[in-house]
Amino acid sequence: MPRVLSGIQPTGNLHLGNYLGAIANWAAMQDSHECLFCVVDLHAITLFQDPASLRSATRDMTAALLASGIDPARSVLFNQSAVPQHAELGWVLGCVARVGWLNRMTQFKDKAGKDREGSSVGLYVYPVLQAADILVYKATHVPVGDDQKQHLELARDIAVKFNTDYGVELFPLPEPVIGLGGGATRIMSLRDGTAKMSKSDPSANSRIDLTDDAETIAAKIRKAKSDADALPSEVAGLADRPEARNLVGIYAALAKTSPDAVLRQFGGQGFGVFKPALADLTVATLAPITAAYRERRADEAALDSVLAEGAAKARAIAAPVLAEVYETIGFLTRC
Ligand code: TYM
Repeated sequence: MPRVLSGIQPTGNLHLGNYLGAIANWAAMQDSHECLFCVVDLHAITLFQDPASLRSATRDMTAALLASGIDPARSVLFNQSAVPQHAELGWVLGCVARVGWLNRMTQFKDKAGKDREGSSVGLYVYPVLQAADILVYKATHVPVGDDQKQHLELARDIAVKFNTDYGVELFPLPEPVIGLGGGATRIMSLRDGTAKMSKSDPSANSRIDLTDDAETIAAKIRKAKSDADALPSEVAGLADRPEARNLVGIYAALAKTSPDAVLRQFGGQGFGVFKPALADLTVATLAPITAAYRERRADEAALDSVLAEGAAKARAIAAPVLAEVYETIGFLTRC
């Protein structure tokens, strides 16, 4: 069975972009793939995290993933730091990756902003650890949103260079799985149709969190940036209307249909009609997830034991792969 690995940072709430761009796909792949999903706490500390908040956010994210349909009976769910092989392989792969490759990473440029010299070394080598997350399980498929494409290409480049340098076929080349089933690959901010919906956007109105209640969701969609024109009857008519395109895309992803089908239904109508329909659909989709989240989040002992069991299973897969890597490199066997 093909093996899936994906990860999400425990910073901020799970939002609609994460859900439609990645997590809904994670849930959908559980029956057809062997799945490993990790809450990437090692990645989170590339930007300073308050320790108590990080602990809490790791449990928040675990509860949100369970509420979104990740089933520990079918998938391995764990927090990254509990499986030391990620960091160990990360070091090895850091010796394979080239500085020039990392210099091209746009996420580092975005996150470091103007203060590159002052950003952490961890933020710079972030994509190398991400490659280790995937390769330490020899994962073949990686469901992600469109923004992770470049990191996935880097993981493939690192795998190819390791295999070539050592003359082995140790790592399979991982395939990104983006927009499975016509899903939304990049959900944009509700305040700016040209910026990604993101946990780090200071405006809470820019995103819908999976923990928002019905009134909050309706208010955020009501306030979402749009324009004064009616919706067109075909997708081509959305070309220069990023906000309209985003709202139609969200509707289509939630309704599990295509933007064309949405426009067949709403073409010719204004946002006065479309926004309430989108709010209703969003609330209907998220309400059961929010209720399940509250229930899961209340039982910390249960969350911790899901993560502990997941980490034990993950270590059992990762340890022999790391041993194979060490043997290939020429390290003496550990006693
Ligand atoms: P993170 O935590 O930023 O996001 C988790 C997943 O959500 C997707 N996503 C989106 N999809 C569509 N529209 C959006 N606005 C949007 N925002 C986020 C992301 O593409 C991602 O799939 N580097 C990763 C975490 C990671 C990882 C890995 C992923 C660490 N190791 C190994 C895959 C494999 C990240 O920061 O995701």
